[in-house]
Amino acid sequence: MAIKGPVAIILAAGQGKRMKSEKAKVLHEVCGRPMIQYVVDAARGAGAKTIVVVVGYASEQLYSALQNEPDILFATQSEQLGTGHAVKVCRPLLGDYQGPALILVGDEPLLRPEPLADLLNRQKHEGAACLLGTAELADPTGFGRILRDSAGRFLRIVEERDCSPEEKAIREVNPSCYVFETPVLWEALDQIGTSNAQGEYYLTDAPERLMTMGRKVVALKVLRADDVLGVNTRQHLAQAGAIMQSRIQDHLMTEGVTIVDPRNTYIDGRATIGPDTIIHPFSVIGGPVTVGANCRIGPFAHLRPGTELADDVVVGAFVEIARSKLDGGTIARHLTYLGDAVVGRDVNIGCGAVTANFDGSRKSETRIGDHARIGANAVLVAPVEIGRDAVVGAGAVVTRGKHVAAGATVVGVPARPLVPEAD
Ligand code: UD1
Ligand code: CA
Repeated sequence: MAIKGPVAIILAAGQGKRMKSEKAKVLHEVCGRPMIQYVVDAARGAGAKTIVVVVGYASEQLYSALQNEPDILFATQSEQLGTGHAVKVCRPLLGDYQGPALILVGDEPLLRPEPLADLLNRQKHEGAACLLGTAELADPTGFGRILRDSAGRFLRIVEERDCSPEEKAIREVNPSCYVFETPVLWEALDQIGTSNAQGEYYLTDAPERLMTMGRKVVALKVLRADDVLGVNTRQHLAQAGAIMQSRIQDHLMTEGVTIVDPRNTYIDGRATIGPDTIIHPFSVIGGPVTVGANCRIGPFAHLRPGTELADDVVVGAFVEIARSKLDGGTIARHLTYLGDAVVGRDVNIGCGAVTANFDGSRKSETRIGDHARIGANAVLVAPVEIGRDAVVGAGAVVTRGKHVAAGATVVGVPARPLVPEAD
C-alpha cells in the first residue's frame, strides 16, 4: 500500500508510570476525550494524511479507542527502549515513503494544529533534514533543553537528566514536535546509541546526528507554553484540563454564548452552542451535544451525549438529558430526566417528570408531541407516545405502550383518560 503524506508519527507506547494507572497514559481524558485524540486532531489539522500511532503498553486499549479511523495505522513497540526506538519501529510500515514525517508525542493534548502546519511548511522551504519546534518556558522542568551556539544556531538537545547545572538553566525546551525528511531519519536513527542517563535510544539525539552527517537542522521557536504542556502526572492532567476548558469556553464566548461563571462550567469541545444561549453555573455539557440559539441552560443542568436542543429551549436546575431531542421553545425547568426522548415544540415538562427509558436490559424511546403538557412528577414508561396537545396529570404513571392520543388528558396510576365529573 502506498503511504499518503505528510505522515505523522505519534509516540504512545509508554506506560506513564507516574500516572499510577492500569490505563495507557494517552487514554486518560482531558475535557471528556482521551488526550491522544487531541494530538491526532492536531496532526490532521496540520495536514497529515497518514497517522502512525506507536503503541506498546496496553496496546489493546489504544486499538479500541482509535478504531474505525481509516487514516490511522498502528506500529507496535513491544519493549519501550526509548523514543528513538519507538520511531524506528515505524520503518517497516512506512516502507520507502520519501516525504516529511511530523513526529509528536501522545501526552501533549494542548498542541494546536497551526504551529505544526507552520513547521511542515517551513521544512519544505528550508530544505532542512529536520525542523524542530521549540518553546521558551518560565519553568522548563521536565523537558529536554535546546543548546545553541553563540550565533544562535541549533547545536543539540540535552535531556534534563543529562544536563549540567548551566544547561539546566536554559529555558528553551524541546516539546517533541519535529519534522524530519523520512529517509535520512532512518539513517540517523541507525546511528544513535544508548549512552545516556536512562540507557535508552533517544530520538532527541537524531537532530545532532543529522548535523554530523552534514545535513541541515533548524530549531524554530514556534510553540507557546500552553501548547506544550506534557502530561506525566495526574496534576498535569488537571492543569491540561483547565487550559483546554478555558479554550473551549473562550471559543464559545467568541461565538456569542454567555457563560455566567466559566470556572464552574464544564463543556466538552465537541459541543456546539448557538448565540445568545446562556449557560448558568454548575452545568456540565458532556460529549457531542447540540444546543440551539437563545436557550437557557442550568444552573446545575447535565446534558449528556446525543442531546440536541433546538432554539429557545429552557433546561433548568437538576435536569439531566441524554440521547434526546427537544424542539424549539420546549421547557424542562426543574428536576427532570429525559433519556431517549423525542420531544416536540413548546412542550412543558413539569417539575420532577421522568422518562423511564430503561427496563433493566433494554432502552426504549419516549415521543412527546408539540404543545403537550407533562405534569409534575409524571413518569412516562418507555416505549410510549404522548400525542400533540395531550396533557399528562401530575403524578400520573403512563405505562409502557399505553400511548396517549393527541389532545387527550390522562391522570392517575396507572394513567387513564380523565372523565369529566357530572354536575
Ligand atoms: C521526551 C523528550 C524530551 C522532551 C519531552 C517532552 C526524549 C528522549 N525526550 O521526554 O526531550 O522535552 O519528551 O516532549 O525523547 N514513548 C514510546 N516509547 C518509548 C518511550 C516513550 O512510545 O520507548 C512515548 C511515550 O508514550 C510518550 C512519549 O513517547 O507519549 C514521550 O515519552 P516520555 O517518557 O514522556 O518522555 P519525556 O521524559 O517526557
Ligand atoms: Ca512526557
